[in-house]
Amino acid sequence: MSEHVSDRTPVATPSRPATTVVRTVADVRAAADALRAEGSGVALVPTMGALHDGHLELVRRAARDGHAPIVSIFVNPTQFAAGEDLSSYPRREARDVDLAGTAGARAVFAPDVDEVYPEGFATTVSVAGPAEGLEGASRPTHFAGVATVVAKLLLMVRPDRVVFGQKDAQQVAVIRRMMRDLHLDDIEFVVVPTVRERDGLAMSSRNAYLSDTERQVALALSRGLADAADRATAGERDGRTLEDAAMETMRSVAGVEPEYAALVDPDTFQRVPTLVGPATLCVAARVGPARLIDNAVIPIN
Ligand code: PAF
Repeated sequence: MSEHVSDRTPVATPSRPATTVVRTVADVRAAADALRAEGSGVALVPTMGALHDGHLELVRRAARDGHAPIVSIFVNPTQFAAGEDLSSYPRREARDVDLAGTAGARAVFAPDVDEVYPEGFATTVSVAGPAEGLEGASRPTHFAGVATVVAKLLLMVRPDRVVFGQKDAQQVAVIRRMMRDLHLDDIEFVVVPTVRERDGLAMSSRNAYLSDTERQVALALSRGLADAADRATAGERDGRTLEDAAMETMRSVAGVEPEYAALVDPDTFQRVPTLVGPATLCVAARVGPARLIDNAVIPIN
């Protein structure tokens, strides 16, 4: 069940400016204009809420660079297929608003579904190219939902920059392509490295689904990436061998059902058969009730 914060309630402490909660396009545009009038650019940090330190790092990064961060919190129904976790996706708005404010957010845009997808809505942004393999193959409607909502958020908020996490590497490639293709590239696109727990687990809202035991088991993903990176550092250049190294590590842990390990070009998401330049190794696996993804840039030295 979602918590609710009353509209446009500023959340302030003596040490930081208020975080305004807005729910309509008109109000978020007014909030962005007011922030620009203070002399700073506006940075949008799109999220689906259930904020963790990975999200807060995006907000801190936006604020550190002198922009006024606006965090959107919207669990986007169009990026979930039937049978996925839309209804159980964690919704913690009051806590999220507070955390976002602590990290430096000046406004939170938390629209209702009808505001984003009004009656009669009939437009979808569909990206080919980088959206086609891996997550796009496992979740065929997912990236159209992501591209559609991100295009809408950019047009609703009209920020000067938008900030994403590298944790969702394929999403980053899809949105970068979409922004180029739709001439949204006057909005600066910022990607922030994945934030990890001390033991290497990539932070994710879906980690909330894991029991303590499953959380330990989930370390197989980051360990698989580390093992493949070690092989590359030791001189291995064959893409399939590096992918197999990650799969082997994941398979060796009871309770992990690996889905893929794929060495890809970070922009096109085409498979990289031989490591000759920058490449990203992406992994996906099911652990208990959660389907988890992770990735790492594989060194070539
Ligand atoms: O990464 C996410 O949380 C979502 O895919 C995004 C970009 C907020 C779009 O709903």
